[in-house]
Amino acid sequence: MWAGRSEGLLDSCADDFNSSIKFDKRMYAQDIRGSVCHAAMLGRCGIISPEEAQLIINTLGEILSDLDEGKLTIDPLAEDIHMFVEAELTKRIGDTGKRLHTARSRNDQVALDIRLYLNDKTKEIKALLCELIRAIVKVAKANKDAIMPGYTHLQRAQPITFGHHLMAYVSMLMRDIGRIDDAQMRMMDECPLGSCALAGTTYDTDRNMTASLLGFSRPCENSLDGVSDRDFAIELTAAFSTVMMHLSRFSEEIILWSSWEFKFIELDDAYATGSSIMPQKKNPDMAELARGKTARVYGDLMTLLTMLKGLPLAYNKDMQEDKEAIFDALDTLIMTLKVFIPMVATMKPLRENMYRAAQRGFINATDCADYLVKKGLPFRSAYKISGQLVAYCIQNSKTLEELTLDEFKSMSELFDTDVYDAISLVNATNSRTSYGGTSISSVERQIERAERFIASFELDEGAEE
Ligand code: ARG
Repeated sequence: MWAGRSEGLLDSCADDFNSSIKFDKRMYAQDIRGSVCHAAMLGRCGIISPEEAQLIINTLGEILSDLDEGKLTIDPLAEDIHMFVEAELTKRIGDTGKRLHTARSRNDQVALDIRLYLNDKTKEIKALLCELIRAIVKVAKANKDAIMPGYTHLQRAQPITFGHHLMAYVSMLMRDIGRIDDAQMRMMDECPLGSCALAGTTYDTDRNMTASLLGFSRPCENSLDGVSDRDFAIELTAAFSTVMMHLSRFSEEIILWSSWEFKFIELDDAYATGSSIMPQKKNPDMAELARGKTARVYGDLMTLLTMLKGLPLAYNKDMQEDKEAIFDALDTLIMTLKVFIPMVATMKPLRENMYRAAQRGFINATDCADYLVKKGLPFRSAYKISGQLVAYCIQNSKTLEELTLDEFKSMSELFDTDVYDAISLVNATNSRTSYGGTSISSVERQIERAERFIASFELDEGAEE
């Protein structure tokens, strides 16, 4: 390939070091798509003849289907996927194939391929996120009345419902989809093809044509930036890191909830493992791995940021290192979601245990104070009385519900028989009807919003097909 400038062959170790085919071969379809549009533009602009353009386009189509069908294997000795496709084209149609690389460079080619590849893959990720939302909503719907303790500082705080708790993750995941959309629309929607090596070209190319053929809104503005920008990869990997962070927090709860200490859920056997020595064990390995793999994706983000930080403009070979990081982040997230979705869909909520846990820990102490406030006491005074009642209960091994009316009255004359209703767990959850709160009606509103989100997502995706 370098014939012309160089005489000697690359040292085999250096060749190995330099080659990216092992990992960039997965972008073959995107590479070919880019080349097809480039050839069409060269033909339209009279840079190559229309017949040559057509021959190139047809042959690239054949190469693509041969690769798809496994009739053609990618040469592991090629330097990268761009070289391989071009070499294969030239092998098939000779000199005409050699015209494809006019007004183009591997620098703008690779910048394009990664964008196209990421764009395809993020569609898959968004669809998986949507599926996860659907799975969570289903469990939330069935458990919108399942009372459990809500925590702050991992101390029982106030009663909530399991449905409400789950819907918090739905809010996070909906934001995640928004973040990915944002990176796609703001960052990835500019076509670098035609930036060439770095400076643009002397040929009379039509960058708007290739941009629109490839589905971009516009060509990127500056050719130096076009070949050296990887912001979109960073933004997407940051968005993926945030998704993983959310899955990791959820995993942590799933791990806690399946412990004997909590026992709020039972994982399906298909998503838990045993121990080779302790016969009684059922381990939440999938959730632990989701938590663990979050570290990898953060690492990938750091790789990208660090790789780019000292690079002068424009292209530098360091940038070849972007792919393994991006691919690892993508693969890790996809694999994690594929296990996470059915794990959540099949987990069994143990509502009795949740309720029992909610009965301990005085999580209705706020409701006791609120009761006094509604009877006219300022909140701070009510707070103090409620605290004194809790201290009294602890001393006498009682719950607030178990106190007699006389005991209540000994702290404040405002207490009456309706206090029992006010501090009941059902009432404590169901009267929190404020927007976003834990009451059934409020959780139902959250569920409706999520369902609308899923429906509009499906409509959008369907329209794109
Ligand atoms: N394999 C290279 C990469 O991934 C393609 C671009 C090579 N460009 C060059 N001037 N050597 O970055």
